[in-house]
Amino acid sequence: MKGQKRIGILTAGGDSPGLNAAIRAVGKAAVGEYGWEMIGFRDGFLGLAQNRFVRLNKTDLAGILTVGGTILGTSRDKPHRMMIDGQERDMTGAIVANYKKNKLDALVCIGGGGTHKNALRLVEKGLNILSIPKTIDNDVVLTDATIGFDTALGIATEAIDRLHSTAHSHHRIVIAEIMGHAAGWLTLGAGIAGGADVILLPEIPYDVEKIAAAIRRRSQLGTNFSIVAVAEGAKSQEDSALFAEADKRKKNAKTQAEKDYARLRLAELENKHEGNTLRLAKHLEELTRLEARVTILGYVQRGGTPSYNDRLLATRLGTACADLIAQGAADVMVAARGDGVKPVPIKDVAGLLKLVPPGHSWITSARRVGTCLGD
Ligand code: F6P
Repeated sequence: MKGQKRIGILTAGGDSPGLNAAIRAVGKAAVGEYGWEMIGFRDGFLGLAQNRFVRLNKTDLAGILTVGGTILGTSRDKPHRMMIDGQERDMTGAIVANYKKNKLDALVCIGGGGTHKNALRLVEKGLNILSIPKTIDNDVVLTDATIGFDTALGIATEAIDRLHSTAHSHHRIVIAEIMGHAAGWLTLGAGIAGGADVILLPEIPYDVEKIAAAIRRRSQLGTNFSIVAVAEGAKSQEDSALFAEADKRKKNAKTQAEKDYARLRLAELENKHEGNTLRLAKHLEELTRLEARVTILGYVQRGGTPSYNDRLLATRLGTACADLIAQGAADVMVAARGDGVKPVPIKDVAGLLKLVPPGHSWITSARRVGTCLGD
């Protein structure tokens, strides 16, 4: 199955630990084993639109397995809506032209939800794309795992571990805000592993009175501190109803005016949500009469060296991706399934989110060890 091929590779969306391990794995198999040429586009789809790339030889792929971030750079630029010289432009045509100009047999896109939507747009324009799922959010459908989640889970768990001793010493409520966008996987996983007393997820709208009652119960039993793990996308029951209403408006909007209004309303709600964790802390202070402090873990969760699990996953998916190209596979995501991999059509992945299902075993286990989920 040798035969000369020329492939492109890019990383898109938010960075995550393990991206370089994936680039290395695709490259070692594609260049080292199959003897193909591989070029890496800079800064996601933006570099592809501007034809900015580097040739990746064996030496470029050495020494990057454990390095955080991405040697190629990344961006959230969308092919159909790119800011070029201060102006929003549709660069789909330029991307198709550059793919052809570089005589690519396939383009490997390493990314999460947004990347899959963009990849599908380009598949529909005739590009042959294979994707590799990565995101610390773990919210990509049809794959058991995404590159970066395991590392971020370790970082968030360690943070919760460390917050315990300071919360305990000061008899405080300490709230750790954890990333994850609209999905609660990271918060739920780290919350369980770190023994948080309260875990708040986007999938389970919370009632602040219930959280306060759980914290007060702990105080009555002699434990004057609590750790709350809150997902950045977690919302109160009231806010969640407002978001649902605005979402519904957006879906049902028929005229341009209705669409604009719905978009504006959602943006307004999202803006307001930004200070949510700080407001939650104030509210809990009032209701429990305990001091509350907030720690926003932020980008520390995406930085640094990947865990051994992410290195393994990236190496499995990356090498399998090269094999799939050799076998002539087209327009598929290389999904992790058990110990193996499975190619799944990109069109079945794009536009969907893997959220934590209400009956998931992690939810059941959290409840069974007495964790308050705010409902
Ligand atoms: O998707 C990964 C993620 O880290 C989310 O958890 C977070 O909401 C988002 O990216 C932050 O995006 P940005 O890097 O654009 O600020």
